[in-house]
Amino acid sequence: MATGWNEMTDAIFHCQRCRLCEGRTHVVPGEGNPNADLMFIGEGPGQEEDRQGRPFVGPSGQLLTKMIHAIGMERSEVYICNIVKCRPPYNRNPEPDEALACMDFLRTQVYLVRPKIIVLLGKVAARYTLKQEISINRDHGKWFERNGYWMLPTFHPSALLRDESKKRDAWEDFKKVRDLYRALTEAGNGSISE
Ligand code: URA
Repeated sequence: MATGWNEMTDAIFHCQRCRLCEGRTHVVPGEGNPNADLMFIGEGPGQEEDRQGRPFVGPSGQLLTKMIHAIGMERSEVYICNIVKCRPPYNRNPEPDEALACMDFLRTQVYLVRPKIIVLLGKVAARYTLKQEISINRDHGKWFERNGYWMLPTFHPSALLRDESKKRDAWEDFKKVRDLYRALTEAGNGSISE
């Protein structure tokens, strides 16, 4: 496992661990505050992300940005990345072997950023991160504790663009994130029991 930012970023840029490297225009490692208390994990880059080399800058990214603003934060305060760092063809879901090949990078990102809260955007992000079968309709808005990190699955912004009726539930999830974020960062100790 890469141990520092430079080593990790270099490894991601040169990665050929799976077939997704063959179709990429740009690798999309992730971006934001390297010491963020709040991290967002999506599925994988789409067309615009592949073009720019930045996560969540297409239509679903614009919605995610609005939702981050709605909880009183800026993109620059949080860290945003994906399960896979290269665009799957035709925006299909990453295959299990592709997600596995990229998991080391995600683990390193979490280790380096050490966020207090991780928001899992959609089923793919939730399933590979929590390592259990997740139904977003059933499990969105529930807190999962893993290795000292508070993780919350919610709808992927592209699902919200397809079905506006889910936005109300997503907003409830984001309010939970905002409230725990405030509690943890004001307490400054990373524990929700105090
Ligand atoms: N969808 C994702 O899951 N990630 C991105 O970066 C963009 C769209």
